[in-house]
Amino acid sequence: MPLSQPGSTKFQVNLRRHLRNQDISDNLVHLICEIAEASKYVINAVRTGDLGVAGTSNLYGEEQLALDVLSDRIIKKRLIHSGVVCNIASEEMDEIFQAQADADGLYSVAYDPLDGSSLVDVNLAVGTIVSIYEGCNLLQKGRNQVAAMYILYGPRVSMVYSVGKGVHEFTMNHLMEYTLSRENVVMKPEGDIYSPGGLRNKYHAGTEKFVRYLEEKGAKLRYSGGFVPDINQVIMKGKGIFMYPALNGSPNGKLRLLFELNPMAFLIENAGGAATDGKTPILDLDPQSLDQRAPIYIGCKNDVAKAMEFIA
Ligand code: AHG
Ligand code: MN
Ligand code: MN
Ligand code: MN
Repeated sequence: MPLSQPGSTKFQVNLRRHLRNQDISDNLVHLICEIAEASKYVINAVRTGDLGVAGTSNLYGEEQLALDVLSDRIIKKRLIHSGVVCNIASEEMDEIFQAQADADGLYSVAYDPLDGSSLVDVNLAVGTIVSIYEGCNLLQKGRNQVAAMYILYGPRVSMVYSVGKGVHEFTMNHLMEYTLSRENVVMKPEGDIYSPGGLRNKYHAGTEKFVRYLEEKGAKLRYSGGFVPDINQVIMKGKGIFMYPALNGSPNGKLRLLFELNPMAFLIENAGGAATDGKTPILDLDPQSLDQRAPIYIGCKNDVAKAMEFIA
């Protein structure tokens, strides 16, 4: 049984009320509110925490920053104590952590505790990305997610979530409570922003041609190097495309399927957009391992379709 009775806590009442209207389980409402509450401690860590390295590396062999490890610990602890989580996987943990064994009524969570952590020392926006499945299996197609969300630590702190019934944005108020700021966000069919990740001189010919096409039609280049603000801009302006493509030497690009691509693809599709690895919708990719990466083209439906024409 959940340690803390779902709904027994009184925090994040606005978010809880909105979630309850989405016809989802009390446990899922409770879980999303717990993640929202945990973000308050991540904000504090980002604003005041140590900017140095942790002296360890993650399952991708990347050097971890102290903030990666601290943010991961904050979120993991909150998930365990929520009492509604079976398995946990994180970009910063080497393997899956089992919080509880029984699957019924429980959820499993894959998350990137602090995406863009290397941007904190130059004070650029960063975020937390979360993907939620029913039961205990985390290696399943992204289309099976029951919820996905990100929290963007920018000039304002916003949380964008979907449980498959629209995409909704909450913004943190002076009491550190999330209040509804945008409901049922819908993207335009195409737009004039492009966010090209990865080194341009490593682009495949088709990708290079696509970028030249965008430049010729006067699209605006918007790239911060933070996946969460870069995606948030495309979703909230409702126009454009983000890409971190296959590169010469890195056929799967850089971004991680479980912790970054699946949750963002779930959100974008629920906002009327599209997300593909260049051939297959991201949500239909069958994860074989925790550390799987994939190329991504994500944003407005027509822009993603145009990209696929060029890179085919
Ligand atoms: P993380 O900080 O979780 O390791 O992810 C960083 C990612 C993502 O935020 C961004 O889209 C990408 O790295 C940027 O990569 P480049 O620095 O190669 O542009
Ligand atoms: Mn990341
Ligand atoms: Mn990360
Ligand atoms: Mn990292």
